[in-house]
Amino acid sequence: MKSLSFCSWKESYNTGIEEIDIQHRKIADYISELYGSISQNVAAETSNLIVEELVQYTKTHFVYEEKLMEQNKFTKIDEHKKVHEEFKNKLNVFIDKAQKKQQITFQLVQFLRDWLIEHIQVEDKEYVPFVLKK
Ligand SMILES: [Fe+2]
Ligand SMILES: [Fe+2]
Repeated sequence: MKSLSFCSWKESYNTGIEEIDIQHRKIADYISELYGSISQNVAAETSNLIVEELVQYTKTHFVYEEKLMEQNKFTKIDEHKKVHEEFKNKLNVFIDKAQKKQQITFQLVQFLRDWLIEHIQVEDKEYVPFVLKK
């Protein structure tokens, strides 16, 4: 069912913070799994279930990350939280669709992937020196 190449992990995505890297990879795997599910036209319920798990896991990751930034006194924490907040609003669109049993489109999966990879490489990398300095 998985199409791991859709959102495959690259060495350069690693932050060097082990738990964060594990969580990011898991989100990437969920995105690939979702892509695999819609491209193979499996039952809509399966895709919806993956969306729900993906959204739930991502929210849990944000909570973990925000706590880590706070503990390490990351200076741009407010900005970062705002970016998470905006993304969560977009995720709610996915939940809505899943609940209404509408089809999840490729466009939306692509959006998820692009957002994640960009966010990891740009915003997430900014807090890394604050965490690893200790
Ligand atoms: Fe983040
Ligand atoms: Fe992150």
